[in-house]
Amino acid sequence: MSPAHQRQGFGRALLAYLEERVRERGGLTLWLGTDDEVDRTSLGGAELYPDLLGARAAIRDLGGHPYEFYLRCGFLLAGVVPDANGPGKLDSLMAKRVSAPPTPQRDAHPGNPPSGV
Ligand SMILES: CC(C)(COP(=O)(O)OP(=O)(O)OC[C@H]1O[C@@H](n2cnc3c(N)ncnc32)[C@H](O)[C@@H]1OP(=O)(O)O)[C@@H](O)C(=O)NCCC(=O)NCCS
Repeated sequence: MSPAHQRQGFGRALLAYLEERVRERGGLTLWLGTDDEVDRTSLGGAELYPDLLGARAAIRDLGGHPYEFYLRCGFLLAGVVPDANGPGKLDSLMAKRVSAPPTPQRDAHPGNPPSGV
C-alpha cells in the first residue's frame, strides 16, 4: 500500500476479502510471516534462543511495524523465526482461523465414555 493510502481501511478490507475467499474454498487458517529487517520491533537484532515463546510474548513495536496491523485484524502472534532473513532479522509468524473451530471427537476414540455420561 502506498504511504498516501495507508490507514484508510484498505488493508483491513483486502484481508476481509481474502478471508472470505479462503473460507469459501474450505480453508481453515491463514498463516503469514512478517519480517523485521531494520529493528522495528524490540526483537530485531536480539538473541531469541533459547526462549522463543518468551520472545514472542515480549515483542514490542518500536515504530509502526505491521504486526500491529495484523493483530488489529484478528491475527495472533503464533511464533518467531530467528534469523529468517539473516542474522538478527526475524520473521514473526501470525495466524487467524477463518472457519469454525473443530468439534471434539471424543466418542470416536475407544475407551472414552459415551457423551452425556
Ligand atoms: C500494513 C498495511 C498493509 C496496512 O494497511 P492499511 O490500509 O494501512 O491498514 P488499515 O487502514 O486497514 O488499518 C486497520 C487497523 O490497523 C491499524 N494499523 C495499520 N497499520 C498499522 C501499523 N503499521 N501499526 C499499527 N497499527 C496499524 C490501523 O490504525 C487500523 O486500526 P483500527 O483497528 O483502530 O481501525 C499497509 O500499511 C502497508 O502496505 N504497509 C507497507 C508495506 C507493509 O508493511 N506490508 C506488510 C508486510 S508483512
